[in-house]
Amino acid sequence: MPLLTNIGCLAACRMEGGQSEIHALPAAALVWEGDRIVWLGREAQLPAALATMERWDGEGRLVVPGLIDCHTHLAFGGWRADEHEARLRGQSYLEIARAGGGIARTVRQTRSQSEAELVERASLFLQRCARLGVTTMECKSGYGLCLDQELKLLRVYQSLDRAQPLQLVPTFLGAHVVAPEFAQDRAGYVSLLCQELIPEVARRGLARFCDVFLEEGAFDLEEARSILQTGQEHGLPAKLHADQLSDGGGARLASELGAISADHLEHASEQGMTAMAEAGVVAVSLPLATLYLGQTPMPARRWIERGVPVAVATDFNPGSAPSCHLQLAMLLACLMQRMTPAEVLKGVTAYAARALGLEGEVGSLEPGKRADFVIIDAPDVNHWLLHFRENRVLKTVVGGVEYPLFHVSPP
Ligand code: NIG
Ligand code: FE
Repeated sequence: MPLLTNIGCLAACRMEGGQSEIHALPAAALVWEGDRIVWLGREAQLPAALATMERWDGEGRLVVPGLIDCHTHLAFGGWRADEHEARLRGQSYLEIARAGGGIARTVRQTRSQSEAELVERASLFLQRCARLGVTTMECKSGYGLCLDQELKLLRVYQSLDRAQPLQLVPTFLGAHVVAPEFAQDRAGYVSLLCQELIPEVARRGLARFCDVFLEEGAFDLEEARSILQTGQEHGLPAKLHADQLSDGGGARLASELGAISADHLEHASEQGMTAMAEAGVVAVSLPLATLYLGQTPMPARRWIERGVPVAVATDFNPGSAPSCHLQLAMLLACLMQRMTPAEVLKGVTAYAARALGLEGEVGSLEPGKRADFVIIDAPDVNHWLLHFRENRVLKTVVGGVEYPLFHVSPP
């Protein structure tokens, strides 16, 4: 039964309390057995029976729950670096997409990769994320857009979930854009999704959620509603890419359907905010995508004031958010959205767990929860998100075991 002592500050990040309540405890200790937390509290109050166990030294540092990246598109082929330049020269994300770039281009590049190639590349990203303190990651499909290719992506996540210690949560995003084969037959693609892809993905147990990109150039409100309802009928709770580039009524739709989260939300309306507060939908902010696309940030302060839990994630993908650095996304949430470091920490722990329906298992340090935690080279959370460095994580512990700190460079 290992025991971590000499913790300068332990942020337990339980669900209760508001966005800024991280339940920070000075001079703390943490005890776990196997993959479960057994005890935590002030070191001075450590029960004598636990005091003789295998000891790790926290060296006065900050300890937080394992970080949860609750929105990524982890497996993809290629990058879209030339589009980055084109956007910097003034072209918009939508203009690039209309010219055959954007998501459709990554679909072509992903389809041409074998399952093994995708596994290998994604596993390098995962190793990097683990070093950055991530212990649970949501992973979306959506660069396949036909049955075989979407199943391929979801199998990549299944293989990776089994082959390495981080917990992966797969989401079916067949409704990312209309598949190129159906460019002249949108209704045909929506029927394919509802009648074949969703039932098959659910039957095989390859996804936990169903997501839709509701936006001009992707899917409209009616299409999104019918796709997400079909997902729900097949046991896949709804998530939504909502109101990213324009107000498409996404926040309201997420509320109407009782979605578990609505993500992006830069352009959500006041009514959308109110509806999400009432329905208890988690708002997932993706500041890297906001920054890369040069948008006005999602007004996190207004969401928090209305009592909506705000999670923060990377949106890692090869176009609009080409970084899996969750600590960078956390800093951006502070600087661009005026969230305090404590609020951001709650957004990548307890609230991110809630956005994945995993709050009973991970996202906070409590007896009975998984022993997923991170030792940060900082005395407290304010200092962590003040002095940005490549990586402030000293140790990532997943299920009670220290993650090996590989140094790898994904291609
Ligand atoms: O979350 N918004 C839609 N989907 C992704 C973009 C993916 C891409 O550009 O490849 C996002 O930003
Ligand atoms: Fe996304």
